[in-house]
Amino acid sequence: MLTEIDFPITLTLDPENGILDPCPQITPRYLSDLKMMFKDQQVVDEILKEENRLIYEIRYYPFRTSKSDMALAVTRIFPGSIGGEYHMTKGHKHERDDQPEVYYCVKGEGFLLLDTLEGEFQAIPWRAGTITHIPPMWAHRVINTGTDLLVFIGVFHLSAGHDYEIVAQKGFSYRVYAVDGKPALIRQT
Ligand code: PA5
Ligand code: NI
Repeated sequence: MLTEIDFPITLTLDPENGILDPCPQITPRYLSDLKMMFKDQQVVDEILKEENRLIYEIRYYPFRTSKSDMALAVTRIFPGSIGGEYHMTKGHKHERDDQPEVYYCVKGEGFLLLDTLEGEFQAIPWRAGTITHIPPMWAHRVINTGTDLLVFIGVFHLSAGHDYEIVAQKGFSYRVYAVDGKPALIRQT
């Protein structure tokens, strides 16, 4: 009987702080976890001598009603920069080449970077309310260029998979720096 199972699954997100309830899995990402993602390795090492800064957190909820179900993740990126480069997610491509994703910016401002890692690139300006569809085969990374928390939701297929290695090897075509207090996209050679 439907009344005996937890159906449908309903979650609550606090849009001000990005806290999801219920939430079975929280993954913190510290500077040491994305050390290689920032350009200025000397600055990274200097900061790590003092503190292992929390850059962002992922709150994950898998809807496991079938093998073809979805998952939801809420990411909270704290404001700040490392060697002038704004705080950002590691960035990844989906392991499966047929898996898209939908991102919804709940709070804050920044950019969504989309990169095929084979020559095509787009930077989508983000603010609260922006929804972006990420096509399969595009690496994606979110940058927090604001002075407050950036919160966004990602919805994707349980089987999509996350490939971080390819981003670590090839890198995104552009980095986002604070230049005179404003975000600037700097092309990488
Ligand atoms: O599935 C997604 O694309 C997101 O939920 C990300 O995993 C999340 O935003 C954190 O980014 P990354 O996985 O690149 O560390
Ligand atoms: Ni993804």
